[in-house]
Amino acid sequence: MSAHPRIIGYLQRAVNHELLAVQQCILQAATASSLGLMALADRLRSDAHDELGHAEAFASRLLHCGAGVHASQSRAPCVGRTRLEILHFGLATEADAVRLYSEAGAFCARIGDDANHALFNRICADERHHQQEIERALKAYEGAR
Ligand SMILES: [Fe+2]
Ligand SMILES: [Fe+2]
Repeated sequence: MSAHPRIIGYLQRAVNHELLAVQQCILQAATASSLGLMALADRLRSDAHDELGHAEAFASRLLHCGAGVHASQSRAPCVGRTRLEILHFGLATEADAVRLYSEAGAFCARIGDDANHALFNRICADERHHQQEIERALKAYEGAR
């Protein structure tokens, strides 16, 4: 199965985004743990597993489409040193994912690529879920201050 070159580009960007998100979650989990924020550390570890699954799903899709996987990191992940910074940096990463996968999904729909449309939609729903979890945590923290 082949895919439109623009979709291959979206899939490459998606793999790189997910690998960056994995690094961010793991480093944030370690930071949260060092701050004694064990519940936050647990959630970040669980999110890291989700992001790892996403990276594999996008990489598998590229291979399925007959394309290579070109992993590259354009920047280091933003980690943060406090609970608030961790939550804000995490939220920014989820928002980037939602933006990218919404745009990619809309393009897939426009050209009738159902398989890739379904993949981007499924993972976008996971990212929205992550985003809502962080927003809830931020609200709870700000309410408690
Ligand atoms: Fe993800
Ligand atoms: Fe996510």
